[in-house]
Amino acid sequence: MSRSVLSVCDLSADEIGAVLDRAQHTKNQGDGRGSQLSGKTGLLIFQKPSLRTRVSFELAVTNLGGRALYLSPPEVGIGERESPEDVGGVAGRYCDLIVCRTFEQSNLDRLAASSGVPVVNALSDWEHPCQALADVLTIREHGGTSGRTLAYVGDGNNVARSLAIAAAGEGMHVRVSSPAGFELDQASVSAATQRAQASGGSLTLIADPEEAVDGADVVYTDTWTSMGQEQEAKQRLEAFAGYQVDAGLVARASRGASVMHCLPAHRGEEITDEVLDGPQSVVLDQAENRLHAQQALLAWLFD
Ligand code: CP
Ligand code: NVA
Repeated sequence: MSRSVLSVCDLSADEIGAVLDRAQHTKNQGDGRGSQLSGKTGLLIFQKPSLRTRVSFELAVTNLGGRALYLSPPEVGIGERESPEDVGGVAGRYCDLIVCRTFEQSNLDRLAASSGVPVVNALSDWEHPCQALADVLTIREHGGTSGRTLAYVGDGNNVARSLAIAAAGEGMHVRVSSPAGFELDQASVSAATQRAQASGGSLTLIADPEEAVDGADVVYTDTWTSMGQEQEAKQRLEAFAGYQVDAGLVARASRGASVMHCLPAHRGEEITDEVLDGPQSVVLDQAENRLHAQQALLAWLFD
């Protein structure tokens, strides 16, 4: 039975812990290479642009001894040129792993159901689980997770969803602050709350960004306009006014709090240059950790 990671909930809190322990170990060793994908091919199917996810997955597959093939947004047309089931069924005959970035989460579910090989979500409209793994790894490295407070300010989107569930599972006190109409959905709140109850953490929705950031150890934001939402950009700019992570907001967090952003950033919208490029920003560590976390995840999947 092949094991897929389509949602962060496909990994238990203990499994996330094990993958991140492994990532930390190989990162500290300075050489995370392995042979888990020796003789195997990983197919990267991307329906949206990418810098970090594409490069880090290609390197992760290569570092584990495998070969990576990349198909760019115009090439496959999941659900347009062919059904997700047909793409999955065919790709599974050639390849040993599929890493897929797509729009609807259902594309991933359908592709995974027909492929017979592990499928990993490289971002959908609903979740970004591999980003969350790298984020939690980064928080571990910058002061730790359990008992500390993470304030996510902005859209209750794919990144927020995966992050809230993963961080709550590590015992963090997660606060999510979004304007009306853009809050984290109820199913994700329940999933994060369930994990928090088991780990000693918590999940709270706090509409006021200043209250949410008050004394927090980590301040996190993401774009207000995700890929595929470009036609809503103007309305979103208006709706999110007051939710910008700027120096004034960060000053309300604990002294030395980390500032995080998955990137790409819309500078001057959800975050200012001053904060993104400032001394509290750990965004490049986050980006680097995509590689370490994903390499550990793939090694774990193919062990
Ligand atoms: N954070 C992230 O997923 O970046 P890319 O869109 O560049 O892959
Ligand atoms: N929420 C953003 C994340 C990009 C990595 C998007 O979906 O475009």
